[in-house]
Amino acid sequence: MKKFSITIAGGGSTFTPGIVLMLLKHLDRFPIRQIKFYDNLEERQARIASACEILLKERAPDILFTATTDPETAFTDVDFVMAHIRVGLYAMREKDEKIPLKYGVVGQETCGPGGIAYGMRSIGGVLELIDYMEKYSPNAWMLNYSNPAAIVAEATRKLRPKAKIINICDMPVGIEERMAQAIGLASRKEMVVRYYGLNHFGWWTDIRDTEGNDLMPKIQEYVSQFGYALPSESQESQQTDASWKHTFMKAKEVYDIDPTTLPNTYLKYYFYPQDEVAHTNPEFTRANEVMIGREKQVFNECDRITNSGSAENTILEIDEHASYIVDLARAIAYNTHERMLLIVPNNGAIENFDESAMVEIPCIVGSNGPEPLIQGKIPRFQKGLMEQQVAVEKLVVEAWEERSYQKLWQALTLSKIVPNAKVAKDLLDDLVSVNQEYWPELK
Ligand code: NAD
Ligand code: G6P
Ligand code: MN
Repeated sequence: MKKFSITIAGGGSTFTPGIVLMLLKHLDRFPIRQIKFYDNLEERQARIASACEILLKERAPDILFTATTDPETAFTDVDFVMAHIRVGLYAMREKDEKIPLKYGVVGQETCGPGGIAYGMRSIGGVLELIDYMEKYSPNAWMLNYSNPAAIVAEATRKLRPKAKIINICDMPVGIEERMAQAIGLASRKEMVVRYYGLNHFGWWTDIRDTEGNDLMPKIQEYVSQFGYALPSESQESQQTDASWKHTFMKAKEVYDIDPTTLPNTYLKYYFYPQDEVAHTNPEFTRANEVMIGREKQVFNECDRITNSGSAENTILEIDEHASYIVDLARAIAYNTHERMLLIVPNNGAIENFDESAMVEIPCIVGSNGPEPLIQGKIPRFQKGLMEQQVAVEKLVVEAWEERSYQKLWQALTLSKIVPNAKVAKDLLDDLVSVNQEYWPELK
């Protein structure tokens, strides 16, 4: 059996140890001969890498391991690049969230002004990774979940149309896992779904068990009462951060707007922005929650492993949601024809929607990549929302490409989350001033 060589780009990510553990768990299905970490910040990556090196030596000593900031070393002799970079780090996520809040506007990692600002930073970073991959391993595939995935996917479609990149998101599978638990199934893999939308902006229209029985009514009944919150995560339980608990409960109100479908959680930012602003502390946003939570925990634990020289009793956890990256890599490597939700060019799959839009829909995945499944015509409500949102995403990519202040102002003005053109302009000027190191200079 062929053994694969993997590069994790964004080696210093808080998610890297979880991905490594997940890859180790699935070695029998997806054998690996080499793992390389690549990052452009040596010190940050080194803390994660030295712990992962110990962990790999203990659990899979045959796997070669390298951590590097040199693109040639990182991208040569690679089958898959798993990319999760955050251009600007958490310090910039914090600004993306806090600046809009000054104007009473939702501040969020991927939605609205925060997502637009992050998109303007991410595009160049992800294109650079593609160029390195194409230069040093032209046959490799990039499985990318660097955010904001909607904008990044549009940029890669438009600016690197031939690239072997697949953009993915773990939110739908995360929600599906919750749906499965809510109705007593062992796993989301017992469900076959139809879904359409943009990334972080979509709806399930059909969910069946493997025998074809309709599961929608049962799941909808549950969501109409509890959203996607699970009984195991009471307010007191510590497992899920408070802001995510709120999100899963809020899905009930998002569902109410169209009870014929089931919504992605991220729609709450577009439908109930005032509630979001009201319960957010403008001095302590999700970025702060992650910096004192996941980021601290992962880095402290990695340091502990390095200092003690052993990962035996580590609290680092497998990133279960990310197991679908292995499914995706296997689908390409072994032509499995697995059915998966991916972000792909529409090309008529959503019949009455922009052909050139990057949409999130079920695809059959084989060694030539994803083959999208037709989702047919969508209703006026979803179509109207998606037309507006896809125009925002496309304007951001045009703004980046043309260095256009005007188009970025239009993108912000068009965003459903931004109340008017004046606020859009004030926001834009603030965002320009803090992003000078990362955005192209706008004309
Ligand atoms: P993080 O800040 O902990 O890690 C990101 C790493 O990327 C850092 O080590 C940073 O130095 C590195 N980096 C930044 N710019 C780079 C560049 N140009 N080249 C190489 N490396 C670069 O972030 P995180 O919280 O672990 O998240 C990582 C990414 O994964 C984010 O974009 C996040 O939004 C995304 N993510 C996406 C999904 C999804 O559903 N698509 C799910 C989880 C996380
Ligand atoms: C989900 C989304 C990702 C997003 C993440 C944020 O997994 O699909 O796109 O990056 O949530 O989580 P965080 O814990 O960083 O707020
Ligand atoms: Mn996502």
